[in-house]
Amino acid sequence: MASDAVTLIKNDHRLMEKLFEQLKSGRGDRRALLEEVAARLTAHSHAEEQKVYPALAKAEPEEAAEVGHSVDEHHEAERLLHRVQRTDPDDASFDQALTELVDAVMHHVEEEENEILPKLQEAVDRQTLEKLGEEFEEVRARELAGAGFDEARQGGAAGGGQDRGGRGTSAGATAPGDMTREQLYAQAKEAEIPGRSSMTKDELARALRERG
Ligand SMILES: [Fe+2]
Ligand SMILES: [Fe+2]
Repeated sequence: MASDAVTLIKNDHRLMEKLFEQLKSGRGDRRALLEEVAARLTAHSHAEEQKVYPALAKAEPEEAAEVGHSVDEHHEAERLLHRVQRTDPDDASFDQALTELVDAVMHHVEEEENEILPKLQEAVDRQTLEKLGEEFEEVRARELAGAGFDEARQGGAAGGGQDRGGRGTSAGATAPGDMTREQLYAQAKEAEIPGRSSMTKDELARALRERG
């Protein structure tokens, strides 16, 4: 199944950036957005720590320090996330706490995409990268479900930057053209459509239509 770890991780990073933008803009339900950020960030980090980082450290033992540094950055992001969660979104200190979280996460994302992921791509073959992708996705989905977060039913930023106004639509009751990428992805996963993880929203919709 084509779903390599690097593509999945980068897709998730882009999604996080959109959520951060929405949160910073002050539009929509900030508490709900923050909940989504917390669930996604935690699930993403844990999936990396459990499946992806160890694979790099094993394939390239000299990268162990770099991997350790990345785990430290995850912990720092978690600490900053908890601080934002403890702050009232209506309080003046919320924006400052949020900015510190976003800056720390974006710094980490940049390092990961410029250092960790290219090294992983060099260190393991394509097949391993795809197996890691499946494992990453499995842990991530399990953590999201454990956090009570129903990915398939979330509007969020997953639909390509749509406003939170669309939230609350359920996958089952939505026409294919109105679905978010996450919803389409969930259906594509069920239909076992190959290469789904690297597909755009439109590509997923097309593949599902072709599958009938
Ligand atoms: Fe990441
Ligand atoms: Fe990371």
